[in-house]
Amino acid sequence: FSSSLASSDSFLQCLSEKIPSELLYTQSSPSFTSVLEATIRNPKFLTNTTRPVWIITPTNVSHVQAAVVCGRQEGVRLRVRSGGHDYEGLSYRSERPESFAVLDLVKIRAVRVENQNATAWVDSGATLGEMYYAIGKAGNQLAFPAGLCPTVGVGGHFSGGGFGMLLRKYGLAADNVIDAVLVDAKGRLLDKNSMGSNVFWAIRGGGGESFGIVLSWKIKLVAVPPTVTAFRVPVTINQGAVDVLTRWQDVAPALPDDLIIRVVVQGQTATFQSLYLGTCDALLPVMRSRFPELGMNRSHCKEMTWIQSVPYIYLGSSATVEDILNRTIAMDTSNKATSDYVRQAITKDVWTEIFSWLAQPNAGLMILDPYGGKISSIPEAATPFPHRGGVLYNIQYMNFWRAGGGGDAQRTWIRDFYAFMAPYVSKNPREAYANYRDLDLGENVVVGGVSSYEAGKVWGEKYFKGNYQRLAMAKGEIDPDDYFRNEQSIPPLVTSG
Ligand code: FDA
Repeated sequence: FSSSLASSDSFLQCLSEKIPSELLYTQSSPSFTSVLEATIRNPKFLTNTTRPVWIITPTNVSHVQAAVVCGRQEGVRLRVRSGGHDYEGLSYRSERPESFAVLDLVKIRAVRVENQNATAWVDSGATLGEMYYAIGKAGNQLAFPAGLCPTVGVGGHFSGGGFGMLLRKYGLAADNVIDAVLVDAKGRLLDKNSMGSNVFWAIRGGGGESFGIVLSWKIKLVAVPPTVTAFRVPVTINQGAVDVLTRWQDVAPALPDDLIIRVVVQGQTATFQSLYLGTCDALLPVMRSRFPELGMNRSHCKEMTWIQSVPYIYLGSSATVEDILNRTIAMDTSNKATSDYVRQAITKDVWTEIFSWLAQPNAGLMILDPYGGKISSIPEAATPFPHRGGVLYNIQYMNFWRAGGGGDAQRTWIRDFYAFMAPYVSKNPREAYANYRDLDLGENVVVGGVSSYEAGKVWGEKYFKGNYQRLAMAKGEIDPDDYFRNEQSIPPLVTSG
C-alpha cells in the first residue's frame, strides 16, 4: 500500500461504479469547500493544513464498503468524519502532506428508539442532540449518558468514551453500547459477534479511526425520574472560591450517584453546575449535609424533565429542546485544549496559585468533572478507558482566541499552565482523556509502512494506560496493514503464533 500511487482518476472511477456521483466531491466540485467546512468546528483548521483530495458522503452501508475497497485498491486512505468535533481536526485534515479522502457520515444519521426494551440503534452521523431528542420523544423517564454539547457527533464521541452529566450514575456512553455495526479494512460488514470480543472491546473507548468505520451503535437507554433538578452557583475568589473548591474535591466524587456537581473555573470565579436526578425537596437536605460550604438553597433549584436539562445546561436557560437539533455553530473563536486527571486533592495554596494563572492576560479556563459512582466502579481493563477507581476528577483546560488570529499567547499560556500543573495531577503516566485529543502529547511514527507500537506508547499510555497494548493487539487482528491511520491512531501489534 502506498498513497504515492494514488491516482485521482482511478480512485474516482472505482468509486463512481458503486456510488452515485452526487455523493462524490473532488477539489474542483463547486460545493467541495462548503461540504468540507460544514462540520469544521475549529476555525484554526480552515487554513494552513493538508486538506482532503476527495469527499464521499455515503447514504448506505454499501457505499461505505465500496469506499474502503476502492481506497485499498487505489492506495487512498480514508479519514472518517461524524460530527467533526475532533480537537485536532483529524477527521478531515492531515498534519503531513498526504492524498486522502474524507468519508463523511453526515447522511447516515438515523436514531431508532425501541421503547419496549429501552434500547436504541444510533447511526454514527447523528449528533448527540439528535440522539437525545429522539430519546426524549420516547418518554420522560428514559435518557442516555453522553456528552453535553449537542453538536458533537455520535461516531467520534462513542469511539473515545463520552461523558456528561450522567457519568456518576451511569458511566460513559461507551459503557452503555451493547452492539455495533463496523466496516473493516477489508470492506466486511461486522457486528458484535463477527468482529470478535477484542475488537468489540476496542471500539468502545479506544478512539476513532483505528479499527474501521463504525456505522451504527446499539445502546442501552437508562432510567431517569420524571423530574430532575439543575442548579448553578457562581463563587468568586472574594466569596471564598479557594476554600469551596478545595472542599469540593473531596465532596463531589463521594456524593450519591444521583448528583453531579461539575465546576467551570474562569477568571476569578468558580461556577458550580449541577444535575440531580430528583426533586429540589429531595436535593436540599443532601446539599445541606454534604456540601454546606457552597451555600446552595431553594432559590437555585430549577426543576424540569431530563430532556429539558440538555439545552438548559449547555445552551442556557432560554434555549428550547428543539435547539439541540441545530447543527450550526458560531465559528468566531479558535481553541486549544488538553486534559489531566487528579487522584489526590490539590491543596489550598496551590488553588490560590491556580487563580493567579487564571488572572493572567490571555488566560483560558478549566472544566472539572468529578468521577466516583458508576464511572469509577468499572474495572480499568473492562473497556479501553482506564480512568476509573481512584480518580477524583478530570480537568479540561481550554483557551480561545479570535478566529483568524494566531493564538500564540493563548497557546503559550495553556502549555505553561499544563507544565505548572504537573506535580498536582496523575503521574506515570500523566493520564489524559482520548476524546480531548492533543497532538502535543505525541504523534505516531511510521516505520516500515505501519505506525510504530513503541513510538505510540508516548501518547497511547496517557490515554489508555495498560490497555494500550490490548488495543494494539486488537488493531493487529482487524487491520494489521494499518490502513485506517492518523497521527494518533492505535498502531498494530501483530503477535506470532
Ligand atoms: P469527528 O468526526 O471529528 O471524529 C473524531 C475522531 O473519531 C476522528 O479521528 C475520526 O476519524 C473518528 N471517527 C469519527 N467517526 C467515526 C466512526 N463512525 N467510526 C470510526 N471512527 C470515527 N467529550 C465528552 O466526552 N463530553 C463532552 O461533554 C464533550 N463536549 C465537547 C464539546 C465541544 C464543543 C467539542 C468540540 C468537543 C467535546 N467533546 C466532549 C469531545 C468529543 O467527544 C470528541 O471531540 C469526539 O471525538 C467528537 O466526535 P465527532 O464525531 O464530533 O468528531
